Amino acid sequence: MSSSTLPTGTTVNDRYVLQRKLGSDGDVYEAHDRHLNQTVAFKLLHQENSSPQSWDEARRLEQLRNRFIIPVINADVVANSDLRYIVTRLLPIGDLESEAAPNGISTALAVRYGAHLATAVVAVHAAGMVHRDIKPANALLDGDIAHLSDFEYCCILDENGEAPRDGSWCTLAPEVAMDDGVCTVASDVYSLSATVFYLLSGEYPVDPHLPRAEQKLLIAAGDVRSLADIAPHVPRAVSSVIKRGMGVDPAARHPSAESFANALATAIGRRRSWHRITHLGHTFCAESVGQNNRKSLGVCASSVPNGKVKVHAFYLGSKRAVSGTPARVVRAGELAPALRSMFVKLN
Ligand SMILES: Nc1ncnc2c1ncn2[C@@H]1O[C@H](COP(=O)(O)OP(=O)(O)OP(=O)(O)O)[C@@H](O)[C@H]1O
Ligand SMILES: [Mg+2]
Repeated sequence: MSSSTLPTGTTVNDRYVLQRKLGSDGDVYEAHDRHLNQTVAFKLLHQENSSPQSWDEARRLEQLRNRFIIPVINADVVANSDLRYIVTRLLPIGDLESEAAPNGISTALAVRYGAHLATAVVAVHAAGMVHRDIKPANALLDGDIAHLSDFEYCCILDENGEAPRDGSWCTLAPEVAMDDGVCTVASDVYSLSATVFYLLSGEYPVDPHLPRAEQKLLIAAGDVRSLADIAPHVPRAVSSVIKRGMGVDPAARHPSAESFANALATAIGRRRSWHRITHLGHTFCAESVGQNNRKSLGVCASSVPNGKVKVHAFYLGSKRAVSGTPARVVRAGELAPALRSMFVKLN
């Protein structure tokens, strides 16, 4: 958190009119740029103490310019103060944390955005740096392109390929959660994988509402939510790629962000894309838009008497049951495996 904040309505340097705060935290504003007559994102750089903030975040953005990294427009000091700020292009759709809440986005989009972010991370690593804060809230959407943003923690790796530990709990790697931990290329691969985990499910690997100490224990032990259970519409091959990227042993993860993205693309292949939807009173519902002469499908799970759940697949157009995929009634505890086997048949 920064120690300084400016009230909305403030005009900075006779140029940027701060209109509203963006995001849930931090000091980022939607602002009107009077000179260029456009709306921009205005971010006050974080200040640890009374010394001026570093220009690192602005310089890294400039140095790492890439199709999948948020472009920086300006970096300056608020007149008559020590406050430094950067200006970036405003991406009005916002960040992927909001976009994927509460149920995740379609499997095809999650893999696609994962590939965009991986390309950005490859550029960071190629420059001998680590980002250290890859998470859905630090990924911004521009149409159907995801951009990596928030380079506050981005830093240069030492000669051992290590950097001091930093990051956000929601996507933190186990070795970074430890008090004597360090950040490496592998910890960025973990955070990237955990980000795609969230995009697919709308949930973080560990409940972010738990007390920090509890989150730390779960992360360190690799005791995270099972993607196969909370998002049974995600193909098993895709869940396996995410699981490897989130391995407790850094050496067992994909060796690079590029190899993670390649594995993800191979795993999704030409399978149907599914996205979860909410039907009032139903336990789990998903839809798949038909492509290449394939019909649009729906899957619903709803409670029936005796604590059981009925799972059925149907054509979205006619509502008729999908041939060869009869409805099943299972115990509530068997819902996830029943859904998984149904999605295998439908894919
Ligand atoms: N260029 C932009 N366009 C649209 N929204 C933006 C932009 N930059 C930032 N935001 C919004 O502001 C939020 C915070 O931005 P950013 O992560 O850069 O700041 P931060 O102070 O580091 O925040 P945090 O501490 O929460 O990570 C983002 O999650 C996003 O919702
Ligand atoms: Mg951020």
